[in-house]
Amino acid sequence: MTIAYDPPALDGETLDALLYDHLSEWGPSDQFYLDLVMAAESVLDVGCGTGTILRRARAEGHAGRRVGLDPDPAMLGQAQESDAAEWVRAPASAAAWDAEFDLAIMSGNAFQCLLDDAETVASLTAVRRALTDGGRFVFDTRNPAVKAWRTWTSAEPYRFTDPLGEPMSVVQEAGEPDGEGVVRLDAYFSASYWDEPLKASCGLRFPAPEHLDRLLKAAGLAVEERFGSFTGAAFDPAASGSLITVATPLGRNGLRPRAGAGGGAGEVPSRRSNHPRHP
Ligand SMILES: C[S@@+](CC[C@H](N)C(=O)[O-])C[C@H]1O[C@@H](n2cnc3c(N)ncnc32)[C@H](O)[C@@H]1O
Repeated sequence: MTIAYDPPALDGETLDALLYDHLSEWGPSDQFYLDLVMAAESVLDVGCGTGTILRRARAEGHAGRRVGLDPDPAMLGQAQESDAAEWVRAPASAAAWDAEFDLAIMSGNAFQCLLDDAETVASLTAVRRALTDGGRFVFDTRNPAVKAWRTWTSAEPYRFTDPLGEPMSVVQEAGEPDGEGVVRLDAYFSASYWDEPLKASCGLRFPAPEHLDRLLKAAGLAVEERFGSFTGAAFDPAASGSLITVATPLGRNGLRPRAGAGGGAGEVPSRRSNHPRHP
């Protein structure tokens, strides 16, 4: 169900979600995922948000099955304005499909919304189950070694015009990672709608690559390819901003059902990289 953009009536997180597309542009990471989607028969977009990638895929003639999954009613409500895909409101851990998709994606750093090992392994296990044996799960996270959160606290407000034509600004404050590697990010929106800034908070986890590999293995997935940028550069543990992973299901014997690289993960960086709230 669509939630109306009515700032005085919204909490900060809902406002933030309803501004998501307004503050985002199509970028190289979207194109990277779109290319993968266009080459796949059946696609599960995990944490699909407003459904941007699946909507574009349908507009560009993708003829197979498209399913978008997201737990956030404000994000998914925007996706549901389109019939470009089947839209399911649920977290990744509740994905209930069995060997139905040859591609699952988790774009825009949505994977970082999985805030602890238990939720991450449950989510990965559900995604693995949804994949065919030869299927692939492609997702991006940010490399903790680069400490991107240290650039997220605003020096100046980011000013923009909201969907109703009102001047609005936002400032951000990011903390340091806690014991689980979770960074808290608070945003404060200001506009004539409110006497005080409206606060929106979220947590983003920064798993290290070795940690990520252990979580994937625990869920029956193995790393097939890894990139450090959406241009397809190799992952550099010390310098790459992004950690882009292509994972495949392990067979019942713990071995990969097929050998070699999957290909297809060519060009990629992120529309979300210039999003002031999803940097
Ligand atoms: C930064 S947005 C990215 C949205 C979209 N993938 C994109 O590229 O535009 C992160 C999304 O992850 C979703 N999310 C949060 N927790 C989740 C979970 N446990 N399972 C699946 N998605 C989740 C949020 O609701 C949000 O829509």
